[in-house]
Amino acid sequence: MEKRDALYAGKAKSVYRTDDPGRLILHFRDDTSAFDGKRKEALARKGMVNNKFNAFIMGKLEEAGIPTHFEKLLSDTECVVKKLDMIPVECVVRNLAAGGLVRRLGVEEGIVLDPPTYELFLKNDDKGDPMINESLAETFGWATPAQLERMKALTFRVNDVLKNLFLEGGMLLVDYKLEFGMVDGEVVLGDEFSPDGCRLWDARTREKMDKDRFRQGLGGVIEAYEEVGRRLGIDFA
Ligand code: ADP
Ligand code: CDP
Repeated sequence: MEKRDALYAGKAKSVYRTDDPGRLILHFRDDTSAFDGKRKEALARKGMVNNKFNAFIMGKLEEAGIPTHFEKLLSDTECVVKKLDMIPVECVVRNLAAGGLVRRLGVEEGIVLDPPTYELFLKNDDKGDPMINESLAETFGWATPAQLERMKALTFRVNDVLKNLFLEGGMLLVDYKLEFGMVDGEVVLGDEFSPDGCRLWDARTREKMDKDRFRQGLGGVIEAYEEVGRRLGIDFA
């Protein structure tokens, strides 16, 4: 596989074309951003950690029958994925209250959400990723009703798999964001799953082990990501 020109440079990853029009290379950079890109910093090792973390999680999801874009690791910081026509809607499931939900509704951080909640956000940094709903997505053409239904079903299936996986490692999957895209008429999980896009707490102490450490200036960000990986048996070497 030959790496060609950059297609897109996002806040944390760069996307490259390859000699195969159906495949892309994702390069996980050390760049870390929060608050819709308003706060940025490079954190050493993050690209490598998230690339390997994502490969491990995507493998677990594939094993569980969830279609993903992931094909293989290419280097410490790169992987090969299927090129998707991305759907500009972010799907968020929450098992415990945190972050935006606490800010918006004033509920206590850490309360159990039963059943887990499901929210949609428009992927648009300039507008601050506003919350949307299925009606708005359909009317404005961001996603069709069939795509929305499939995205919701897959997002909850991911919860069934990952809640248990993290719990076995002594961690609570508080919430997470997924992005999907289309290939060959099928809705497929794209982008990444890493501690950058989810919240993970130590099940006993409730210590934060995810990007909230960066957002809140707590320090020890990558050390926490590596500890999450270690508990799942990921070899960062
Ligand atoms: P952002 O765009 O939010 O700054 P990143 O820095 O992670 O995020 O950039 C990666 C970009 O690549 C995102 O816009 C994401 O939607 C897109 N992407 C992820 N997976 C695929 C894929 N398989 N095919 C096409 N685009 C993808
Ligand atoms: O992160 P913030 O508090 O602003 O938003 P949230 O709605 O509470 O985020 C819910 C979950 O989705 C968290 O795990 C975020 O890390 C993740 N998320 C993300 O990865 N990217 C976004 N653009 C928005 C949320």
